Amino acid sequence: MKTFTNVMDIGDLKVALAEAQEIKQDRYKYESLGKHKTCLLIFFNNSLRTRLSTQKAARNLGMDVIVLDVNQGAWKLETERGVIMDGDKSEHLLEAIPVMANYCDIIGVRSFARFESREDDYTEKILMQFIKYSGKPVFSMEAATGHPLQAFADLITIEEHKRTERPKVVLTWAPHPKALPQAVPNSFADWMNEANVDFVITHPEGYELDPKFVRGAKVEYDQKKAFEGAEFIYAKNWACPGVTNPADYGKVLSKDMSWTVDTEHMSWTNNAFFMHCLPVRRNMIVSDDVIEAPTSLVIPEAANREISATVVLKRLLESL
Ligand code: CP
Repeated sequence: MKTFTNVMDIGDLKVALAEAQEIKQDRYKYESLGKHKTCLLIFFNNSLRTRLSTQKAARNLGMDVIVLDVNQGAWKLETERGVIMDGDKSEHLLEAIPVMANYCDIIGVRSFARFESREDDYTEKILMQFIKYSGKPVFSMEAATGHPLQAFADLITIEEHKRTERPKVVLTWAPHPKALPQAVPNSFADWMNEANVDFVITHPEGYELDPKFVRGAKVEYDQKKAFEGAEFIYAKNWACPGVTNPADYGKVLSKDMSWTVDTEHMSWTNNAFFMHCLPVRRNMIVSDDVIEAPTSLVIPEAANREISATVVLKRLLESL
């Protein structure tokens, strides 16, 4: 595996899930694989879980790790070609990428959607430049339209907790005060569509996700109907993806608190587990009662971020 940006990169999910369990049994099993190899983690945006779990994963594999927060201590980067650089940006990404690549063997990039241009975000303009110009294996630590390390950890968590062979899994939009990218719901859909689950997406009208991620999934606008029989509820906010109206891309179209997942919502389900990638705004996305219930999986999901990252880094190391 030379890059990791979506579910297709990981190949057979059964094999990947078995590898995750192998690593969970002994997370240092491959600690000689990364000897004298360096993993560079580049953050254009904030992070708690990705920052810690990916460093831990790299160390599980015996790698050295360098973490760069681009906006704290590095030169401010220009990302557009052709710009006259007479402003506050001192260095161009086109020099910075090959320079950074000199110091490492594998590169992880976190670069969120900017909501300035749907096309730029949905072509993954920043991540693709790292893939094109670094000459190194690159993996996404959440890019503009995807968060595959999170989705892989979510799938591991579902596999560990499912009570039936093919559980019903519901991705539900929930309200949030700010505009959030679609990376997490896009990737969750991307992975659930390949997994052995009955997958349903529910959201208010206008929040339709990009068809390349929805694919054959059922979309149900009635949240109550969607929740019926569900064994897993995955809540997430996202701003308007601009599918039906491109002019609305990145806008907050609704803050309808009737979509907040509370105990009444969970009573519509088949005693479902609650999932969220974190960080989460309590009593906007989910009520205190639901996130604190024994059926809440938010902490196991976060723990599985170390496992998904270890599998991915192992695969990338094997490609060197
Ligand atoms: N879920 C997740 O990616 O968390 P961070 O933004 O804290 O890394």
